[in-house]
Amino acid sequence: MNETPVIGVVGAGQMGRGIAQVAAQAGCQVHLMDTNDAQVRGALVTIAKDLNRLVTKGKLESSESEKVLERIRPTGALGDLSGCEYVVEAAVENTDLKVSIFRELDALLPSNCILASNTSSISLTKLAGATKRPERVIGLHFMNPVPLMKLVEIVRALQTADDTYEETCRLSERLGKTYVTTRDMPGFIVNRMLIPFINEACFALQDGLGTVQDIDEAARLGLNHPMGPLQLADLIGLDTCLFIAEVLQREFGEDKYRPASLLRNYVAAGWLGRKTNRGFYVYSAGKQERPSGRPPPDTK
Ligand SMILES: NC(=O)c1ccc[n+]([C@@H]2O[C@H](COP(=O)([O-])OP(=O)(O)OC[C@H]3O[C@@H](n4cnc5c(N)ncnc54)[C@H](O)[C@@H]3O)[C@@H](O)[C@H]2O)c1
Repeated sequence: MNETPVIGVVGAGQMGRGIAQVAAQAGCQVHLMDTNDAQVRGALVTIAKDLNRLVTKGKLESSESEKVLERIRPTGALGDLSGCEYVVEAAVENTDLKVSIFRELDALLPSNCILASNTSSISLTKLAGATKRPERVIGLHFMNPVPLMKLVEIVRALQTADDTYEETCRLSERLGKTYVTTRDMPGFIVNRMLIPFINEACFALQDGLGTVQDIDEAARLGLNHPMGPLQLADLIGLDTCLFIAEVLQREFGEDKYRPASLLRNYVAAGWLGRKTNRGFYVYSAGKQERPSGRPPPDTK
């Protein structure tokens, strides 16, 4: 990769905007693409606010903050990524959508460009198989919020070549991340542990074991977790949590991964967490205000 790598990020939601920010802070040129114009504009506002916070705390020079922003080129057209050396796809967690994005990227980009996905649960082997460069496809799974969380999981598809893996390790280090390497199995390492935990918290709420606050406080004070599982689910997005739970259940074929019906109901209601200002809690101006109310009747 060049001294100043040109990185493409597909999807400017909560993950894509964080990935764009850390890449620009690491000196990369970034093309940030989303089909939804409002999301791209929103991403630039969020990134500017985050950089301002760093300036206020004395962690970043204001002149550097401007340079970081200048390195991010927003776009609504995938075609604008044609000069990229490395692309990270971070669009919504949907297999058909990701397969079609990978096919488009494959047709568009030079054959040595690495195509990475930030997917939480979709098979990288399947995404690689949708392209004519399966050896240049890999998983690069960031944690939320991207600028704060140190870890990335590097997921090797069955077809991933060693040099693709090595370049991805180097890029992760350049972005200031520590990586772990995982096999391409549903949920990888982090979500294989986390999603059953969040799902169990949903069952606990559904069973009336405690209130939303009780369950979160039990995890914070009893397990020493910085955040309760329901707060964390709101941060991740309940749609994303449900999608991953469904993948675990389907792929492993084990009932222990069955998503709680309460989780399904919240997603059906459009209560997706922070991004819709309502999940297990209600949010106003990005701040958690109160629990969102009684859960729907038990439909277990
Ligand atoms: N939320 C998390 O905590 C988390 C953590 C790690 C990984 N992930 C993964 O990151 C990915 C994105 O998750 P998110 O939480 O940022 O979702 P999000 O809903 O916040 O953002 C997804 C974005 O994708 C855009 N999009 C949809 N179709 C597109 C297309 N064809 N081309 C370009 N953009 C398109 C949407 O407009 C939206 O802005 C998912 O694969 C998810 O599993 C999420």
